[in-house]
Amino acid sequence: MRRIIAMTALTLFVTGVALAEETMVLPGKQAGDVPFTHQKHTEALKSCQPCHSSESGGKIEGFGKESAHKLCKDCHVQKEAGPTTCSGCHKK
Ligand code: HEC
Ligand code: HEC
Ligand code: HEC
Repeated sequence: MRRIIAMTALTLFVTGVALAEETMVLPGKQAGDVPFTHQKHTEALKSCQPCHSSESGGKIEGFGKESAHKLCKDCHVQKEAGPTTCSGCHKK
């Protein structure tokens, strides 16, 4: 019985995390698509709020070139982790 409860808890946990897609592709027409490891970022940053306005996440209002470059690059520069060059993010 304990095992069943533990398994259910695990399943709920896994589906909860799955709400934040593991890897998403942010489409770029000119510079190329940007593969983004959503789950890895969430785990490394331990919060949704560096990027989202709440812990439930979702579409980011006005997300596009300017805001993405600011959001993504600034943090990579600050933390000295993650790509800061065009081709580091944009894959053809
Ligand atoms: C840290 C990651 C990152 C770096 C570094 C980066 N970009 Fe981007 N870029 C993005 C993201 C994310 C988007 C938004 C994609 C979207 O709108 O869905 C974007 C959008 C764009 C767009 C508009 C979408 C398109 O392709 O038409 C252009 C143009 C662009 N970037 C060019 C550049 C150039 C040139 C550089 C280097 C000087 C650069 N980017 C560096 C992540 C990055
Ligand atoms: C490092 C930045 C970052 C972190 C941290 C992050 N996300 Fe996101 N998330 C994004 C980006 C970028 C998008 C795409 C936004 C858009 O297209 O408007 C997104 C999209 C989403 C979406 C919409 C998915 C879709 O297919 O449209 C959900 C839901 C979401 N995030 C939930 C979460 C949750 C929940 C967390 C925390 C557990 C989280 N995110 C952490 C950057 C992040
Ligand atoms: C608040 C900080 C923060 C933000 C915002 C952020 N990143 Fe990162 N990013 C990191 C860190 C830290 C790493 C190194 C993670 C690791 O290797 O464990 C990283 C690594 C990466 C990598 C290389 C490793 C991988 O997981 O593929 C890519 C590509 C990347 N980020 C893209 C993006 C894009 C695109 C955005 C914006 C949508 C973004 N990041 C926003 C902190 C951030």
